[in-house]
Amino acid sequence: MSFKLTPVAALAADHAAIENLLDLAFGLGRRTKTSYRLREGSMPVAGLSLVIRDSEVGLAGAISYWPLVVGKDFKPAILLGPLAVHPARQNLGIGRALMIESLAAAQRLGHQLVILVGDAPYYARVGFKKLPEGLLQLPGPFDPARFLYLELVEGALQGVAGMVLPPFRQAELSQTELSAALTQPHG
Ligand SMILES: CC(C)(COP(=O)(O)OP(=O)(O)OC[C@H]1O[C@@H](n2cnc3c(N)ncnc32)[C@H](O)[C@@H]1OP(=O)(O)O)[C@@H](O)C(=O)NCCC(=O)NCCS
Repeated sequence: MSFKLTPVAALAADHAAIENLLDLAFGLGRRTKTSYRLREGSMPVAGLSLVIRDSEVGLAGAISYWPLVVGKDFKPAILLGPLAVHPARQNLGIGRALMIESLAAAQRLGHQLVILVGDAPYYARVGFKKLPEGLLQLPGPFDPARFLYLELVEGALQGVAGMVLPPFRQAELSQTELSAALTQPHG
């Protein structure tokens, strides 16, 4: 096999190959997912975009993370994904290697809470758990059984609640709270 299970930092020049890999792994309809609403207007979290190179298929796998704010207190979190492995290289440990390396880097960089929408049985392998239903909301439809979190610091989920948005939409979180307060019945 022509790859090593060694994740390395993604380069700006990898952008087109990563997009191609995501199309291969998820199909062309991937951009309609709610996770994409969470990435709009943001840059990936620095230091956490990794790839595994392969002399035959180009990129065997790729992972990135995106900045988020949650609820009226704008609590920070990061979104894991997309994580994609080339169809010809799946079930060889590439996805796991990318997750383990990037989550360790996220912890070193001081990130505390990771969330994602994905297959619970797969992500449970590295410690992700289902979020309590109703605790967090997303700006689009999602299956609560696939809405998962991982604490990189014990207790990181405590006190985190509300709508999850990319940081540039933070003002809407205050607005939502304000509208809710204004529409409270009097007396
Ligand atoms: C899902 C994906 C990232 C996994 O990466 P990978 O490198 O193929 O997987 P790994 O080698 O790390 O892990 C393989 C193990 O996970 C299991 N697994 C793989 N995908 C799974 C899934 N969606 N749900 C549950 N288990 C899964 C495999 O059965 C295998 O189990 P085993 O170790 O008991 O044999 C990759 O297959 C992929 O990009 N798929 C296309 C996109 C997709 O379906 N994403 C859904 C996840 S959100």
